[in-house]
Amino acid sequence: MANKKKNNYVSKDKLGNNFVHKESKEEKNKSPKDILLSIKNASYRYSDAKENDYALKNVSFDFERGKIYAIRGRSGTGKTTLLSLISGLERCSEGEIIFAGKSLKNMNLDKYRNSDIGIVFQSYNLLPFMTASENIILSMDASGLKIKNKKEKAIELMEKVGLKASYANRKVLRLSGGEQQRVAIARSLSYNPKMIIADEPTGNLDKQTETEILEIFKKLAHEEHKCVIIVTHSQNVCDTVDKIYDLKKIK
Ligand SMILES: Nc1ncnc2c1ncn2[C@@H]1O[C@H](COP(=O)(O)OP(=O)(O)OP(=O)(O)O)[C@@H](O)[C@H]1O
Ligand SMILES: [Mg+2]
Repeated sequence: MANKKKNNYVSKDKLGNNFVHKESKEEKNKSPKDILLSIKNASYRYSDAKENDYALKNVSFDFERGKIYAIRGRSGTGKTTLLSLISGLERCSEGEIIFAGKSLKNMNLDKYRNSDIGIVFQSYNLLPFMTASENIILSMDASGLKIKNKKEKAIELMEKVGLKASYANRKVLRLSGGEQQRVAIARSLSYNPKMIIADEPTGNLDKQTETEILEIFKKLAHEEHKCVIIVTHSQNVCDTVDKIYDLKKIK
C-alpha cells in the first residue's frame, strides 16, 4: 500500500522491500489534479506510411494518479499505436508525452519501460514453458532493481491477484486464460510501477473473469494510487473506469 510521506510515495511489501517513488522537482510543481502522464497534441505516422497518412493525429489526454481509464475507439483508430507511444516503444512524430513532469524525449526509454510502467497484453505474452513465478522473477531481473526474496515476492504478487501460492511452480501452459492474465498482471507489478497500461486485457476472457480482473485493476488505482490505462472494446470495462477517452477515425 502506498503512503504519502513528505514528497515521496513509499510502498512496503510484506517482505520488507521498500519502494520509494521520489518526486522530481517537476512533480513537486504539479497541478492539483495530480497528473502522472500527459499526452500533448501527439501525432504519429508510421515510417512506411504516405506523407499525410497518420495513425494518430493531435491527441491530447491527461491521466491522473489513483485513477483508472479506458481508451476506446473503432478498429484502426490508433489505440495500440497510442499505447506504443505511452510505453516509449515509439516516439511521437509531432507533439510530446510528459511523464511525472519529464518529457519522454529526454528519458532513457528502456529504463522507463522496465521500472516506471507495467504492461499487460491481450494474449498475456508469458513464457509458456516457464513456471508462473519464473515469469514474474524474469521481469524483476529485467528491472535491475535490488529485490530481496524474489520467489516469495512473486508468490505475494500472485496472491494479490487472486492466485494460490501453489500455482507458483506450475508451468504457464498448464494455467487457464484467466489465470495466465493474473500472472501477467502480477508480472507487470513486479517492480512496483507507477502506471499500468493494458491493451485489451480482458479480450480473451468471459464476462465473470473480466469482472474479477477489473476488480484487481480498480484496487491498484484506488487503493495503491497507481494510474491504470486500459484499451478496450468492452462495455463492462467502460462501466467500471473513472474516465473514458475516445479515439476517432482520422478524416
Ligand atoms: N507497423 C505498422 N506500420 C504501418 N501502419 C501501421 C502499423 N501498425 C498499425 N498501422 C496502422 O495504423 C492505424 C492504427 O492502427 P492500430 O493498430 O493502432 O489501431 P487499433 O485502434 O489498435 O485497432 P484494433 O482495435 O484493431 O486493435 C491503422 O490504420 C493501421 O493499419
Ligand atoms: Mg489494437
